[in-house]
Amino acid sequence: MTASVVVSHSGASIPSRPAVFSVIAPGRVNLIGEHTDYNEGLVLPMAIEPHIRLDVAARPDQWMVFESDRPEFRVEVGQTLSPHDFKGSWAAYPCGVVAGLKRLGWDIPGFTARISATLPAGAGLSSSAALEVGVATAVEVLTGKRLPSEQKALLCQRAEHEFAGVPCGIMDQFAVTLGKAGHALLLDCQTRASVYVPLASEAVSVLIIHSGVKHSLADGEYAKRRAECQSAARLLGVASLREISPSDWRDREPSLPDVERRRSRHVVTEHERTLAFVDALNVRDWHAAGECMYGSHASLREDYEVSCKELDLIVDVSRHVDGVFGCRMTGGGFGGCAVALIDAGRAPQIEQLFRSRCRDRTGVDPVTFLTKATGGVALLQ
Ligand code: GLA
Repeated sequence: MTASVVVSHSGASIPSRPAVFSVIAPGRVNLIGEHTDYNEGLVLPMAIEPHIRLDVAARPDQWMVFESDRPEFRVEVGQTLSPHDFKGSWAAYPCGVVAGLKRLGWDIPGFTARISATLPAGAGLSSSAALEVGVATAVEVLTGKRLPSEQKALLCQRAEHEFAGVPCGIMDQFAVTLGKAGHALLLDCQTRASVYVPLASEAVSVLIIHSGVKHSLADGEYAKRRAECQSAARLLGVASLREISPSDWRDREPSLPDVERRRSRHVVTEHERTLAFVDALNVRDWHAAGECMYGSHASLREDYEVSCKELDLIVDVSRHVDGVFGCRMTGGGFGGCAVALIDAGRAPQIEQLFRSRCRDRTGVDPVTFLTKATGGVALLQ
């Protein structure tokens, strides 16, 4: 049977077989290098323990079913997929990936993928990239075909552009695909070359603090920042903001309008901070690394204007928690999470203190995750 559109968001009409394999796709947190990927700059994300899991079973028919334990999160789709059928729906992510693989000429059999998650959606921890890369990996297993990692990440990014309407950069899909335990990924978004940067986990831990504000990139502000950066690059006469050095930028910034001046200042200085952060990690100077994070946050708040008062409060609180080296908003912004680099020897106590200091200021305990850098997407053995 071949069908063309979503036929159901509700009850199961077609029985599925028991799961035959499972894929785990991690979320990601970006340590530094924010809003630089679509400016062809450097980013330093790491894959994290909270993840999306897909339990997958082949079907005897041509239907592709994505379901979860919540009936409202269930779709059945046929073999012809169009972005128009998924506007505003979470199903845009998995279906965009399947459509991309079909465009490559892959013959995809019917399957049921049961989705569960320890990774919260809307927290700015790349649940969408995890779902995309997880689905691409599941289809690789089902078909016995393989995509090189870079191509897989780019295909998932394209799915997000075309099906979800989010003009994201490449950071999230690369982090979910290429994550490595104990390491952050320093990715050059111009050349797509990457190196793994070891995180000394006996010395430093990563704490993620949710602002409680749901983050969304689809509401236009993200696309607006992208356009403002393109406009700044045009006015500066470069192909992307990656092309301009800090000293050239300083010489030429007086000619820029205010918005372009501030957006480009963030991008140019964030590049410097990312390099300084990596240097600091390499020489185990945690305080210097932490200052880079605070500098990044101030720049994102003042020049890039993607923070919010809840994230600013968390960063402010972090200054008063002993054992925190640095803290900043992470990901696209406008809500979502902050990330802190903290003393590993006292990590659980620091997490508790952080929560209680936030509670003193806001009346509520924030959701926090103490996490390690993990491997990228994987078939569960
Ligand atoms: C989102 C996007 C990424 C990146 C970050 C900001 O997470 O998906 O591509 O642009 O925002 O650094």
